[in-house]
Amino acid sequence: MYSIHKWSCLILLLELLSIVSSSYADEQQPLRPVMNDVPKRVAIVGAGAGGSFAAYEMRKLASKAGIPLNITIYERASYIGGRSTTVNAFEDPAYPIELGASIFVQVNANLLNASRDLGLSVRSADYGRPKETDESIGIWDGTQFVFTLKNDSSWWNIGRLFWRYGLAPLRTQNLMKNIVGRFLRLYEEPIFPFQSLTEAAAEVDLLDSTSTSGAYFIEKNKIGKLFASDIIQASTRVNYGQNLPVIHGLESMVCMATDGAVSIDGGNWQIFDGAIKASKAEVRLNTTVTAIERNDDGTVHITSHPTGDLDSVQSSEVLEYDELVIAGPLQYSGISISPPLDHIPDEIPYIKLHVTLFSTPHRISAAYFGLQGDNVYAPETILTTHPETDWPSDDPSGVGPARFWSVSTLRTVTRTVIRNGDEQQEQHYVYKIFSPERPSAAMIAKMFDIEYDDRTSVVVPRTNTSIGDLPTSEISWFHEKIWNPYPVLYPRVTFEESLLAPRVWYTSGIESFISTMETSALMGRNVAALMLQSWQKESEQADANDGSSSSPRTEL
Ligand SMILES: Cc1cc2nc3c(=O)[nH]c(=O)nc-3n(C[C@H](O)[C@H](O)[C@H](O)COP(=O)(O)OP(=O)(O)OC[C@H]3O[C@@H](n4cnc5c(N)ncnc54)[C@H](O)[C@@H]3O)c2cc1C
Ligand SMILES: *[C@@H]1O[C@H](CO)[C@@H](O)[C@H](O)[C@H]1NC(C)=O
Ligand SMILES: *[C@@H]1O[C@H](CO)[C@@H](O)[C@H](O)[C@H]1NC(C)=O
Ligand SMILES: *[C@@H]1O[C@H](CO)[C@@H](O)[C@H](O)[C@H]1NC(C)=O
Ligand SMILES: *[C@@H]1O[C@H](CO)[C@@H](O)[C@H](O)[C@H]1NC(C)=O
Ligand SMILES: *[C@@H]1O[C@H](CO)[C@@H](O)[C@H](O)[C@H]1NC(C)=O
Repeated sequence: MYSIHKWSCLILLLELLSIVSSSYADEQQPLRPVMNDVPKRVAIVGAGAGGSFAAYEMRKLASKAGIPLNITIYERASYIGGRSTTVNAFEDPAYPIELGASIFVQVNANLLNASRDLGLSVRSADYGRPKETDESIGIWDGTQFVFTLKNDSSWWNIGRLFWRYGLAPLRTQNLMKNIVGRFLRLYEEPIFPFQSLTEAAAEVDLLDSTSTSGAYFIEKNKIGKLFASDIIQASTRVNYGQNLPVIHGLESMVCMATDGAVSIDGGNWQIFDGAIKASKAEVRLNTTVTAIERNDDGTVHITSHPTGDLDSVQSSEVLEYDELVIAGPLQYSGISISPPLDHIPDEIPYIKLHVTLFSTPHRISAAYFGLQGDNVYAPETILTTHPETDWPSDDPSGVGPARFWSVSTLRTVTRTVIRNGDEQQEQHYVYKIFSPERPSAAMIAKMFDIEYDDRTSVVVPRTNTSIGDLPTSEISWFHEKIWNPYPVLYPRVTFEESLLAPRVWYTSGIESFISTMETSALMGRNVAALMLQSWQKESEQADANDGSSSSPRTEL
């Protein structure tokens, strides 16, 4: 269920194979009204997929139940969307480019339904790709392409797949469908809403797939290692920066569920922005929550600061709430909590990912990728894997000789440039590179046939160059970003609780299970539904108590 440019590849591949569709659960039952005019005060920390969907669902359920609600969302960044955000190429709003999460798929009902209900325009994930090359996707092992996909995916591609991989593609597809089917049961009663993701995952029979590495899970399901190494691992690398011996079986299969990959025209963050607007929450941007105090009377005090002024006491503000949702990884939130939570989420390693966006008049270098001849072009999307001879790799966490996870051509733009004193129009390509290290100027120059005088390094050692060192005549725009985009998805069989302490809810436990916009959104809805259930239970108890106190008591 997931990520972009990267994705266009597998999308095409799996289109050849033809895929799943699924049915969805009914909405849950309307809640019985709670007779109380005092609004419930809910604070949400984080305006990403998790926080925005918590607010969206909470408002829907509270309206249905006639419960007055006051939602405040704290967001330390200056924008809504969290890890789903765009930057504008050339700082021009006409060219928004996804800097974080770029793709979701047909089975992602939360995102698709919200896009529909909010009136956003959904389009194919590879909408902007120029489609100028004979081969749309190549999988590179650092020395050679181990697999390429024709642009106009024709019958002989399938022939070639079977020749090379035997039954592995079909087996993978069946396994993936089966896994997706189990996953979708989490959306439905009686499993949804779930307080314990661990128990819910056990009930839908997914712990088997999370308990082992993708490499082992695939082998156990009789999928040949060549297909695993060439195709599935290219997919886990582009989506999660991880090889199959590291990432668990469930997330490996999620990487293959790419049917109907789409994104929102203008940026996926608009789903989360729209959800927040629909929730009528008050959003406090540039506001960092620094401390949470859980009071004896059941309320929560939240201390916040303007993000640029974290140390000043004067600028801090303390407000009281009835409930709190922490909707981002607690380990990166910098929040101190007292008294300590009943369940403190484990600190876990996250991937470090360099995203390099840039534009240039140059195509991807055919020569760099070992292609020769006139009018021979490299595929517009290049994914990578370890060499087959290195399976399973003796460097399981490493990127290997390819040195990057993916390079993709996003779109073309027309630029007016001055060359040799003349003003002229040029077509430039916008690219995205995912890599575990910052790409050096020399690496980018070689990969894009850009002339770059690397000899300066003889005179002045230049070990720390980057895209900014290349001439502006060749790189017309660039943007670099380092993310902690997703956890290292080591095999595991337990997941963090949705309720960390009374009235303190948490959405990010799901990231160690499946880390996507959709699953964060699902978890946001899940905690909202649990919260509403807890209010309902409280009010039933209150009613029961009222009833007993007003009725004459006879016994002692
Ligand atoms: C480069 C990249 C590519 C990706 N590709 C895809 C993809 O194609 N498809 C896909 O589905 N997923 C993709 N993902 C993953 C996806 O972005 C995340 O799983 C999802 O967006 C997480 O949403 P969230 O709401 O749980 O967390 P976040 O989006 O991280 O939201 C948490 C928010 O909390 C805020 N916050 C944290 N602490 C505080 C505090 N103390 N006070 C106030 N605010 C605070 C943060 O600023 C942040 O905005 C990608 C991620 C990256 C980075
Ligand atoms: C909602 O809560 C905020 C912050 O506590 C407060 O400023 C606002 O007046 C409240 N709004 C309503 C309608 O109660
Ligand atoms: C948040 O901070 C940014 C950068 O400091 C600023 O441009 C923006 O206007 C601020 N937004 C709000 C809502 O305060
Ligand atoms: C999405 O919308 C469909 C059609 O309205 C509905 O049947 C389904 O339950 C919804 N799913 C979710 C997760 O919102
Ligand atoms: C690739 O396919 C697309 C649509 O399927 C088509 O528009 C485009 O011209 C093709 N490109 C090449 C180089 O064949
Ligand atoms: C490399 O350059 C970056 C930014 O220009 C700088 O922050 C970093 O410290 C440098 N690293 C080394 C090893 O010089």
